[in-house]
Amino acid sequence: MSENTVHLDLGSGPTGLDVYQSTVGQPGFDIRKLRATTGYVTFDPGFGNTASAHSSITYIDGAAGVLLHRGYRIEDLAQQCSFLEISYLLLYGSLPTAAELATWTDQIGSQTLLNEEMRSFFDAFPRRSHPMAVLASATNAISTFYDVYRRPMRADEIDAGARTLIAKLPTVASWAYKKSIGEPYVYPDAKLGYVENFLHMMFATPVEETTIDPVVVKALNVLLILHADHEMNCSTSTVRGVGSSRANMFTSVAAGMGALWGPLHGGANQAVIEMLQAIHDDPDATIESTIARAKDKNDEFRLMGFGHRVYSNYDPRARVLASFAEDVLARMGQDDPLLEIARELEAAALSDDYFVDHKLFPNVDYYSGIIFRALGFPLRMFTVLFAIGRLPGWIAHWMEMNLDPETRIMRPRQLYIGEPERPFPALDDR
Ligand code: SDX
Repeated sequence: MSENTVHLDLGSGPTGLDVYQSTVGQPGFDIRKLRATTGYVTFDPGFGNTASAHSSITYIDGAAGVLLHRGYRIEDLAQQCSFLEISYLLLYGSLPTAAELATWTDQIGSQTLLNEEMRSFFDAFPRRSHPMAVLASATNAISTFYDVYRRPMRADEIDAGARTLIAKLPTVASWAYKKSIGEPYVYPDAKLGYVENFLHMMFATPVEETTIDPVVVKALNVLLILHADHEMNCSTSTVRGVGSSRANMFTSVAAGMGALWGPLHGGANQAVIEMLQAIHDDPDATIESTIARAKDKNDEFRLMGFGHRVYSNYDPRARVLASFAEDVLARMGQDDPLLEIARELEAAALSDDYFVDHKLFPNVDYYSGIIFRALGFPLRMFTVLFAIGRLPGWIAHWMEMNLDPETRIMRPRQLYIGEPERPFPALDDR
């Protein structure tokens, strides 16, 4: 979609670079021939200024704090849709009709069972294993039961793979949790909806029937939707990068889980609660001392749940979650002191020149953990919940990458600053 050209003159005359216009958002100029025509590469650690692909899945206006999935505002989707509805939208580009949603729901509902041999897989993990390690490993392991997923797949096989992953991840997640607390695995129940079934597998035990609170179901549905996709974030770029070598969908998603686990990315939701709890428990830790630490360049501490590579405004997901947290705690009849601390910390940061000047606002992870806690999830499951929510986004990007004729295997260049060639010294001469 090139409309015009920019000219770059590096001293040996102008080099014309095609400009690509976006539907909305910044245009980009195509540097694919830059190295061949100028001998230069570009330098952009973390690719903060580099578009890696054309995509039509999600658009973020970081300055305005707007997030669209296939053109629909996240606020509308979170309030009006089910998580499976959003999953369909992200994968196939349009909101499903009632009939399409019913078929999609049935197809997924019938695939939630794991191969029974997977039990020994969970048994092999030490009980203290972090569930993100189990989740990423088990996601790879699932593909070993399906030969088709080990090679580049036909379109119908890709759809089947997507349904298999979306159906089975909650089962994997809940079994990882059950293993960690020494309780028996709970099998999925096809009579239950997607979110209800996950809650059933997480919290049911053989000795007592669990009643699933519709408030919890509705809250978790919103939370999963708010995590469903976020364009070229670290974990999604990892999924695309691994998939660009023609690796299968399962192993590409498993790699994305590894990236998500980091505390600068999806692991931040756990780190936020640990930060708030430290302020609550440590008599020496105050809102002021925490803000001071976050500003101190000699202290590696960061205000977790704050800041974003793209948003220079309030993350719209955080805005939804900030009000949602109050509502969920009230509906659950709970009072979490960490929410008050979070609010005070946010107010202090947003009125501090450092955070204002750096344009640091709460992101999706700042309030999500408080809600996950209120819903009864243990701290170490928070990033797992992020992964369940992000799964359709990862798959949608893997599918888009896989079908994009412009896709090439990911292989960036470097600026080498090591030793120039030098003679090899014999051992006695070193
Ligand atoms: C997610 O990309 C996505 O879309 C991610 C995500 C998604 O849905 O996939 O939105 C989910 O990962 C949200 C982010 C969760 N992570 C955290 O909350 C961890 C804390 N935040 C940061 O570490 C940081 O803000 C990042 C990682 C989110 C963004 O890092 P960048 O874009 O690389 O920015 P940077 O580290 O270069 O910081 C720029 C400046 C620096 O100061 P200077 O050296 O320029 O003076 O801002 C400062 C930083 O020190 N800064 C912070 C800060 N975040 C940035 N200072 C204190 N506390 C912070 N949280």
